[in-house]
Amino acid sequence: MVIVSGGGSGIGRQAALLAGASGMSVAVLDADGVAARRTAAEVSTDAGALGLECDVTDEDAVRRCVERAGRELGAPPTGLVAAAGVDIGGPAHAMPASDWRRVLDVNLTGSYLLARTVIGALLEAGAGGSLVLCSSPAAFVAFAAGGASAYAASKGGVSALVRTLAVDYGRHGIRVNAIVPGPTETPLMWASVPAGERAAMAAQVCSEVPLGRIADPVEPARAALWLLGPDSSYVTGSQLVCDGGVLAKASISV
Ligand SMILES: NC(=O)c1ccc[n+]([C@@H]2O[C@H](COP(=O)([O-])OP(=O)(O)OC[C@H]3O[C@@H](n4cnc5c(N)ncnc54)[C@H](O)[C@@H]3O)[C@@H](O)[C@H]2O)c1
Repeated sequence: MVIVSGGGSGIGRQAALLAGASGMSVAVLDADGVAARRTAAEVSTDAGALGLECDVTDEDAVRRCVERAGRELGAPPTGLVAAAGVDIGGPAHAMPASDWRRVLDVNLTGSYLLARTVIGALLEAGAGGSLVLCSSPAAFVAFAAGGASAYAASKGGVSALVRTLAVDYGRHGIRVNAIVPGPTETPLMWASVPAGERAAMAAQVCSEVPLGRIADPVEPARAALWLLGPDSSYVTGSQLVCDGGVLAKASISV
């Protein structure tokens, strides 16, 4: 059984659909319970799918949802795709500290709470498993447009967490990796961009990304599924970059 957080939308939704199509049972967790149940209803698997409202910043809710998913789907978790995320932009000196805390809470602490809960269940079952967290190019380079301090700090934390968990739990057969998606067509990508500026920004992004386009959410989701499954059996602690070439290019433009 695989737990997918943020499965109500975007990359998490596509990861849930792909996991179901590959025959896994899937628990879709999202703060938006309606969206979680909608995705679960779309998942095609004989193994079973369940949609649950879950705020990943709430330690008790995470534990309850993982336990309930195990009970209702008849199997403890063997995999996690932690895709719940938010982006609140703004210059560091002007950003309310509450926005900073929210971004760190959802993106970093939420990933940690899910990872520790799934790792605990794997250790209890004496089973190996695979965890996939969502990082970002912002973990490695600053966005040229600026104003991404909280988001970048949260993703830098996710990438560091992945390395640490991979080393700590490798001996238990538990693999932990990150996907590093580039610009991907989801609500999150546009969260900090006023509606009137989106078309111009999309054109700018396409002109700067080496592959010349914005990703479809199924593209990073496929990378997550590869990390989740047996074809990546000797891969742990890695940051699987699926960013259209953004990190390869990072430089000034003169
Ligand atoms: N879209 C991109 O360009 C991009 C690039 C790099 C990394 N990422 C990362 O990929 C992951 C998935 O993002 P996406 O682009 O699919 O975004 P999205 O907005 O399509 O989906 C995010 C989901 O997370 C859920 N969510 C938000 N707060 C939550 C909470 N507290 N508890 C549970 N669920 C919560 C939302 O309801 C939503 O369904 C995120 O971690 C994001 O930072 C996205």
